[in-house]
Amino acid sequence: MVQYKIPVIAGDGIGPEVIAEGKKVLDAASEKHGFELEWIDYPHGADHYLATGELMPEDTLRELEKYKTIYLGAVGDDRIEPGILEKGILLAMRFYFDQYINLRPIKLLEGIWTPLKDKGPDDIDFVVVRENTEDFYIGIGGGAKEGRTHQELEVVRKLYKVKFDIDIDSDADEIAYQIGLISRKGTERVIRYAFELSRERKKHLSSVDKANVLPDIYGFWREIFRKVATGYPDVKTDFNYVDAITMWFVKNPEWFDVVVTPNMFGDIITDLGAMIQGGMGLAPGGNINPEGTSMFEPIHGSAPKYKGMQKANPIATIWAGAMLLEHLGEKEATGSVLRAIGQNIKEGKVRTPDMGGASKTSDVGDDIARIVRTLDK
Ligand code: IPM
Ligand code: MN
Repeated sequence: MVQYKIPVIAGDGIGPEVIAEGKKVLDAASEKHGFELEWIDYPHGADHYLATGELMPEDTLRELEKYKTIYLGAVGDDRIEPGILEKGILLAMRFYFDQYINLRPIKLLEGIWTPLKDKGPDDIDFVVVRENTEDFYIGIGGGAKEGRTHQELEVVRKLYKVKFDIDIDSDADEIAYQIGLISRKGTERVIRYAFELSRERKKHLSSVDKANVLPDIYGFWREIFRKVATGYPDVKTDFNYVDAITMWFVKNPEWFDVVVTPNMFGDIITDLGAMIQGGMGLAPGGNINPEGTSMFEPIHGSAPKYKGMQKANPIATIWAGAMLLEHLGEKEATGSVLRAIGQNIKEGKVRTPDMGGASKTSDVGDDIARIVRTLDK
C-alpha cells in the first residue's frame, strides 16, 4: 500500500483544533481510497518558542525538506509581538522551501451565504495565484533615528546578488522604509504557472499590479507578463490595477478565472476573496514548490481568542487537506473530500457558529469524515 509521511505543524490558537479535523477527514479518505497517511507532529509555534526560544531552526527545515508536503494549522499568539512567529515560522518555511506559488481558490460552494447580493456559485469561482517569495516580503528595510537598524537578509543578498545601502542624514526626521524586489526568474515562473493553470480552466488570466504608481517594480512585472503571454496565444489576458480589482471582485466576480498577483497585493485581495466565498473559515491555500516541499494551510490566522473553544470552522483546513492530497496525486481521494465538504454544507445540519450553526469544530470534522466513508468512490 502506498504510504505518505506528512509533517504537521498545528501551531497556535485554533490551529490544533482545525488540524485535528483535517487529519480525521484525510485519514477517512485514505482508508477509503487505499493508501496510508503517517502524520509526523512538530511542536513549532508560540508555546515551543516561549519554552525554548526556538522558532524554526535550520536543522528542522533541512529535515522537513525531505517531504513533499507539510500540513500547517496557523501561527500567531497574543503573548508574542506580532511578526515574530509569522516571520520566524510561516514565512521562514515559504522562503526556505522556495514555495513560489501561493494558490488560493476563491469558490463559493452551493449553500454558502455570500455578502455579494445576487451572486451565486456560478459567479464566484476563480483561483488566485499569488507570488510567494518576493516583493515587499523579502524583509529588507530599516529606518532612522529611534532604534531602527537597517536589516538586510543575508539570504536575499546571496540570492539576488544585491546590496542595499541607504544613507540617512543625521539631521533627518525619523523615517522608516522597506524595500520591495522582484526578479525576472521569480516573476516568470509564477506567471508561467498561472498561464498553465488557466489552460486547465477557462483560459482567462488576469494580472494584478500597480504599474501606474510603482513603475519600476510593477512595470517590470507587466513586461515579463507580456513576454510569457506570447507563449500562450490561446489564453485571454488583462491587466488590472490592484485598487480596481478589489472593486471588480465585489461587482463582477464572474469575470475572473485565474488571477496572478505579486505577493503583497495577493495577500490583501485574497482576504477579500475569502469573504466573498463565505468567510475566512472556508478559504484554503497551498504554498507550492512544484519541484520541492509544498505546504497546505487555511488562509485564516490562529484566532487566539477562540483557542480551545471548539468554535472554529475546520472546513478551510479540511479543504487545504484536499489540496494536499491533490498535490500528492491522490485525485479520487481529493474529489471525495471536496464532495463531502459540499454535502455537509448542503445538508446544513452540522455547522459551526460562523455559518449560523451551533456545532463544535470536531462535530464538523466527524460529519465530513462520515460522509467521505459513505460516498461512492
Ligand atoms: C497569509 C498571512 C501571512 C501573509 C502572514 C501571517 C505572514 O496573512 O498567509 O495571507 O502575510 O502572507
Ligand atoms: Mn493574509
